[in-house]
Amino acid sequence: MRHTKVKDLLNSVSTLQEVNAKGWVRTFRNNQFIALNDGSTINNIQCVVDFENTSDELLKRITTGAAVSVTGALVESKGAGQKYEIQVSTLEILGDSDPEKFPMQPKKHSLEFLRENAHLRVRTNAFGAIMRVRSVLSFAVHSYFQEKGFVYVNTPIITGSDAEGAGEMFKVTALPFDKTPRTEDGKVNYKEDFFGKETNLTVSGQLEGETFAMALGQIYTFGPTFRAENSNTSRHLAEFWMIEPEVAFNDLEDNMDLAEDFIQYVIKYALEKCSEDLKFLEGRLLEEEKSKPQAERSEMALLEKLDFVLKNNFKRVSYTEAIDILRDCTPNKKKKFNYIINEWGADLQSEHERYLVEKHFKCPVILFDYPANIKAFYMRLNDNTEPGKETVRAMDILFPGIGEIVGGSQREERFEVLVKKMKALGIDQEELWWYLDTRKFGSAVHSGFGLGFERLVLFVTGMTNIRDVIPFPRTPGSAEF
Ligand code: 4AD
Ligand code: MG
Repeated sequence: MRHTKVKDLLNSVSTLQEVNAKGWVRTFRNNQFIALNDGSTINNIQCVVDFENTSDELLKRITTGAAVSVTGALVESKGAGQKYEIQVSTLEILGDSDPEKFPMQPKKHSLEFLRENAHLRVRTNAFGAIMRVRSVLSFAVHSYFQEKGFVYVNTPIITGSDAEGAGEMFKVTALPFDKTPRTEDGKVNYKEDFFGKETNLTVSGQLEGETFAMALGQIYTFGPTFRAENSNTSRHLAEFWMIEPEVAFNDLEDNMDLAEDFIQYVIKYALEKCSEDLKFLEGRLLEEEKSKPQAERSEMALLEKLDFVLKNNFKRVSYTEAIDILRDCTPNKKKKFNYIINEWGADLQSEHERYLVEKHFKCPVILFDYPANIKAFYMRLNDNTEPGKETVRAMDILFPGIGEIVGGSQREERFEVLVKKMKALGIDQEELWWYLDTRKFGSAVHSGFGLGFERLVLFVTGMTNIRDVIPFPRTPGSAEF
């Protein structure tokens, strides 16, 4: 007999004479009630064991974490909290789980402990819910762009250029470390390496993505990206997933509209498809925040917060306006910020971004038109800016509790302006010959952005550490599993 998913059993339209379920025991109470979970839903199905007619030896093997197969009638449950339960007639242990050794006991574990057991934490309610929401969100990403006719592009993971400047890179090499070939002047001779040149893991698929946008019109990437920065924060991973749409003929306004519409779509999608998981995660967050002082607790519960983002436009604010607000705000005047904002041109730190979003505007914010010299080389220089106060058509989207969730821009489409900028920054034109070709042959206005997928999952699940929304996090000093 084929087993039926727990989710389908719980949603059954009627009682059934005989069903089979397979899953893992969450708890076993009174030698009688198994709470069985198979990952298809946050909810367990209660399986009632006829303990009087079951051997002690078998009963002892029904332990938390054990894999079991139960067969019996699906009957209406007398207990509270569930419509149906299984009246077990046959129970088979598929895989034992030693209760002395299984780490995921039915009690509250710290998130740190769970991270150390990332291969088993997914058997808990919270991590099951998070990973299901993550999966649904990634489907929503594809669904949004595919519905709009974007072409999905797989940009390379191993890149031969490091000109994006988005962050420190991991080198990719097949050279032996003990006998590294050297050039005459003592440098590593990459000509003898696998690719005949220096290569890295990609920090972004944008530059390759732009070449495709300049042929296919609207494209998006969705893949892993890597940054070797030593940022040990709750918002940074060394390996994370990024979504990068790029659209020909879009200017910065269009880019902002696209980003806002996209984010609202995927959140709405998750709210519709993951209501039970999100309700559970809302409860988890409330519980977690009980231990925090009132001032640090969220003003809104999780579902209310998600709904708020759907119902309200993101506030669009220029960098210059933001600096004026920050210069005059209380934490700046009282020197509460680690970095005091004195003048125009300062790079914004996450403390400033969070002040703007959480305290000042109290909604998602799109900051745009940043000083040219704190942003990447490929961003479109604004016309009519004062010398020394040049700005670029950049935008960052800032979210409450997260900070920067999106970074993007209108791209510099003018060949001469782009080359001048690259020269000024010492970026090798020969290395990026193919990128410059897009500006030589049929160049046009185009724009795009990158959304950090884990930061989106953080926001939607109400988790607070990015290590808890990716299956096996890679961070400085940590690459277990
Ligand atoms: O702002 P970033 O560096 O922008 C780019 O890479 C551009 N090439 C994107 C584009 O225009 N196509 O990164 C984009 C987003 C950030 O806003 C953030 O959400 C996320 O990627 N991100 C990270 N997420 C987790 N860990 C890290 N170390 C991250 N670095 C960036
Ligand atoms: Mg950025």
